[in-house]
Amino acid sequence: MGALIARRLSRRAALRGLLGGAAAMSFADQLLASARPAAAQPGPPAAASPSSLSFKEIAHQMTERDAVPEGYEVQTVIRWGDPVLPGAPAFDPRRQDAEAQAAQFGYNNDYVDFFPLPRGSRNATHGLLAVNHEYTDPHLMFPGLPDDAAARAQPSREQALTEMAAHGMSVVEIRRENGRWRPVEDGRLNRRITATTPIRISGPAAGHPRMRTGADPTGREVLGMLNNCAGGNTPWGTVITCEENFNQYFGGAAAETGAQAAAYKRYGIVAQAGYGWGQHVGRFNLDVEPNEPNRFGWVVEYDPYDPASVPVKRTALGRFKHEGCTHAISADGRVAFYSGDDERFDHIYKFVTARPWNPSDPAANRDLLDEGTLYAARLHDDGRMEWLPLVHGQGPLTEANGFASQAEVLIETRRAADLLKATPMDRPEDVQANPVNGRVYAMLTNNTRRKPEQVDAANPRPTNAHGHVIEMIPPGAGTGRVDHAATEGRWEIFLIAGRPGVDAGAEYHQGTSADGWLSCPDNCTFDSKGRIWISTDGAPGTSKVADGLYAADTDGPGRGLTKLFYQAPSGAKVCGPCFTPDDETVFLAIQHPGDDKGSHFDAPLHPLAGFRRGDAAPPGHHRHHPPGRGGGRRLSGAARGTGA
Ligand code: FEO
Ligand code: CA
Repeated sequence: MGALIARRLSRRAALRGLLGGAAAMSFADQLLASARPAAAQPGPPAAASPSSLSFKEIAHQMTERDAVPEGYEVQTVIRWGDPVLPGAPAFDPRRQDAEAQAAQFGYNNDYVDFFPLPRGSRNATHGLLAVNHEYTDPHLMFPGLPDDAAARAQPSREQALTEMAAHGMSVVEIRRENGRWRPVEDGRLNRRITATTPIRISGPAAGHPRMRTGADPTGREVLGMLNNCAGGNTPWGTVITCEENFNQYFGGAAAETGAQAAAYKRYGIVAQAGYGWGQHVGRFNLDVEPNEPNRFGWVVEYDPYDPASVPVKRTALGRFKHEGCTHAISADGRVAFYSGDDERFDHIYKFVTARPWNPSDPAANRDLLDEGTLYAARLHDDGRMEWLPLVHGQGPLTEANGFASQAEVLIETRRAADLLKATPMDRPEDVQANPVNGRVYAMLTNNTRRKPEQVDAANPRPTNAHGHVIEMIPPGAGTGRVDHAATEGRWEIFLIAGRPGVDAGAEYHQGTSADGWLSCPDNCTFDSKGRIWISTDGAPGTSKVADGLYAADTDGPGRGLTKLFYQAPSGAKVCGPCFTPDDETVFLAIQHPGDDKGSHFDAPLHPLAGFRRGDAAPPGHHRHHPPGRGGGRRLSGAARGTGA
């Protein structure tokens, strides 16, 4: 194991003995000639920090409030229940219903994106905030429900419909005036997408018999999108939002006995659905509609500047638990979309459009995502990597292996990638290209199930509780003519998370402070100088550190020197980092603050009939807390309880 870790790590790390064992050191030394130092480059003398990031790092904390450095300010932009559509009622947690929620902001936000107004401008003070609503936590959403699986699995009809309305996305017009961000009241372009919004299905899988249902015999229109997690955008200004853990919404005996049982299993669909919506809405019951789950797990595209635009599920980009999907323009004008499949031992993918995008003719780009090639990544131990095409008829993707068409390859993307021997990774979350150096960064959040005999150079730790970040290097990276369409490249480890000197294998720049280490990298973005900003989800409880936002140089003497910029209230995870075009504001989504074990919403029981009332509150319970407000300027986050 030590040798495997050493293969892609730096000389300094090996010499410092962090890896332990003579075998690791000697193996590392053998490879020095070919291995460019990754996270570790020698820093200048101790006096001056080699980091180009000048903010004063905050201290790690685990409290009910959040924190930012001196001179920065946290502002709440929008919260769960705030009005999105005209006429939305004021939020009242005791009187929630589907109609109200469908006009209000949802929660558990992951993807946050800023689209300047007017379209095509670089306006940094007025724009559209596009935010997903990933999932619902009944125990944090409805007063009186306990934190247990039954509250989710046995909803009342009203509860199920309200939860469906709390899924999807919001687009909200916002403006910064006198230093404060605020939603524009009744913004003309505001919209809500929910689990019942009509969405078109396009690309090779559209219309396939396995995409057809009783309600949609064409296989070309589905109601809603589910569990949209992170996302991205396109060079032509559309939203890319990604369905992740869609499996939880479906259940029925067919999961074990149906004709598609094996396919369900590969996606984690089991007889007992996590969400009990299927008790009230038949299409979530596999025994009623066995094909309905095939219509989820896709990438969805829509135009945020047109609230009447019909979102489209782009099947050419594959069906899996997409964390996000972000683009990079290749030197020849074709566009690559990178995406992680967030599951232990699942894969990293990219889709490359068949044609270049057309900057001068928006109509020409409208269906660009329907034609192209999907690839899965294989990362070799020697630092080479290959992108393996998921093309029907090529290699093992044939009739003999149960793939009769490209549609079937896409519906069962995971099985196709397995057959191609793509590398099983430690839960790939955001995968995003750095617009300055052209390299592509993958957040591998953790994988405590990896056994010692399963480690490889790209996933070098068994029982990987803290995750790591790898860097994929396409041909031409750093030259200004990056080939994101290439089928080969190289890769490096950027950092290995956890507490340096405490958690085995943790690896950062030597200048990283006791507050600068991180755990469980989840989302990332880049500022205009190409520095990476990483948000985290779920340091193990023993770490006693809340989730946060960390920044590091990706080049130069400060490369890999992570610094803590923001820390969330305990129980929250931090998502969506997104800068305005001037880098003055970073938008964050603060998911489920206060969601510690056993917590629940202890507001007075609401009077609505039909909601299932929970058991009496257990001793020691607490309500969840909105984030505090820092002093100073310029950081925008938002939250109401589980809000953004
Ligand atoms: Fe929705 Fe991969 O987190
Ligand atoms: Ca995320």
